[in-house]
Amino acid sequence: MSKTLIALGVTGGIAAYKSAQLCSDLVKAGFEVQVIMTENAVRFVTPLTFRTLSRNPVITSLWELPQWQPEHVALAQSAELFITAPATVNFIAKYANGIADDALSTFAATFNGKAAIAPAMNPNMWRHWTCQENIAKLASHGVRIIGPAAGRVACGDDGIGRMSEVAEILSVIKEMLEADE
Ligand SMILES: Cc1cc2nc3c(=O)[nH]c(=O)nc-3n(C[C@H](O)[C@H](O)[C@H](O)COP(=O)(O)O)c2cc1C
Repeated sequence: MSKTLIALGVTGGIAAYKSAQLCSDLVKAGFEVQVIMTENAVRFVTPLTFRTLSRNPVITSLWELPQWQPEHVALAQSAELFITAPATVNFIAKYANGIADDALSTFAATFNGKAAIAPAMNPNMWRHWTCQENIAKLASHGVRIIGPAAGRVACGDDGIGRMSEVAEILSVIKEMLEADE
């Protein structure tokens, strides 16, 4: 029996290192994982880390075409669920508004299945009206918003903005996959 394919988006925030653990836990839980990183995510964690943990080549560009079909189209047809963790304020804005200017946002604009994001950012970014409007828009279209949690963020500020714990993200993914359409 073939494994359930999860598309894991990784964007450019400090919490990207936690996404490596999520990737590893998803593989251990028996999922096939295809990682898509933004160019800025690569500044925080290397594609090599995700390639090794996922046992799959990592997508970082729209323009490397391993097969005849563009990767975002092929993946959108085969992935069961799309999770972006961490999701930056920038990615959230692009996702909510259909902006498709890199591999991850183009995939997001192509995929119509079960989707979730785990936002992670400074509390001032999280409570900004632009972010809150984009979050509300995504939620209204069925994108599951996981967290963010309250606490101390990497820059030292306290407030809501920490990425949810990896165990919580994993359990939401499993719950979403088990739920009926
Ligand atoms: C050290 C550092 C940490 C950052 N952490 C975050 C973060 O946690 N959340 C966020 O939304 N943006 C964060 N940013 C800003 C993003 O990297 C920036 O908005 C970038 O354009 C996001 O690109 P992407 O969404 O394509 O990955 C950080 C920037 C720097 C320099």
